[in-house]
Amino acid sequence: MITMDTSFDVKHCKQTAISQVDFNNIAFGKVFSDHVFVMDYVDGEWEKGSIEPFGPMSMSPASMVLHYGQAIFEGMKAYRQQDGSVSLFRPGANISRFNLSAKRMCMPEVPADIFMQALVELVGLDSDWVPSSSDASLYIRPFMFATDSHVGVRASHTYRFMIFTCPVGAYYSKPVRVKVETEYTRAALGGTGAAKAAGNYAGSLYPTKLAAEEGYDQLLWTDSQTHSYIEECGTMNAAFVVDGKLLLPATSDTILDGVTRKSALQIAEDLGIDVEVRSVSVAELEEAAKNGTFQEAFGLGTAATVSIMCTVGFEGWNYDLPSFESWSVAPKLRSTLEDIRRGVTEDPYGWNIPV
Ligand code: COI
Repeated sequence: MITMDTSFDVKHCKQTAISQVDFNNIAFGKVFSDHVFVMDYVDGEWEKGSIEPFGPMSMSPASMVLHYGQAIFEGMKAYRQQDGSVSLFRPGANISRFNLSAKRMCMPEVPADIFMQALVELVGLDSDWVPSSSDASLYIRPFMFATDSHVGVRASHTYRFMIFTCPVGAYYSKPVRVKVETEYTRAALGGTGAAKAAGNYAGSLYPTKLAAEEGYDQLLWTDSQTHSYIEECGTMNAAFVVDGKLLLPATSDTILDGVTRKSALQIAEDLGIDVEVRSVSVAELEEAAKNGTFQEAFGLGTAATVSIMCTVGFEGWNYDLPSFESWSVAPKLRSTLEDIRRGVTEDPYGWNIPV
């Protein structure tokens, strides 16, 4: 249990909106908990943060984020434990990654202790919003953006850091059809692919729309230079099982170091699953699809957790994966991870941080 002296001002909402939420049927990202954490960076330092009612905020039309895109975010979750308490899942990993993103986007880092305290206090205050049903959790969205009112390209001098939370159900309601993307690129060497920068997501929308017109839900991004190696799947890390072996594309400059991926890898190793972390080529997957050894394909992400692919679109043809009932690796990783996150089994890694 983390206990720190409260140093944030707290302004409570006048009336909770929780009664408007159908906790048995929660759409992803549509309803928001009562409070939000706010902290501004001014004159080279962070001001004292505060917790305020969730609601619209005003900003200058010349705010630099709106023009030059200095904006980063994180996605993390809090889970209702089997004993009724609430835990954050690996918040330290998200805080570290947030600060790596901040550095890459020329933004100030948020001190880890203040970040953690803000998470604990905000989630603690709105803990009634953490769902108890299986498949549901409290999604936590920390983010930071440039607030200087200025025209001209340079790093902003002022920033706002915020955290809001929202109860969520499953991100994908069904297995996803994905297409191997061989024209557009999510991230290039030396670029911002390893940062959780808002612009990375904006750049992915047009190619994803084109794929949707062809009947796919998401893209399997490939490397920018040759389009021969798999990088990510939509907004998730990608994972494959070929001939009984779990293949995870190695993280790099162009692949986000996903917390769910990291956790699944640790679990796979500890369960004795044969796993290789390396470059995974489109050609080897296509070959495995043709010779019947391509057994499982799934995405790993905070929002989508372990998300099943049903079809992979290669150039000129689609491969339908075997039915989920025959899979062994993804279900094992998913259930082990879920059981740890929800306090159903012991957490041997110290990943759950009670609120
Ligand atoms: C997450 O998995 O948390 C993400 O950041 C994906 C998101 C864009 C919904």
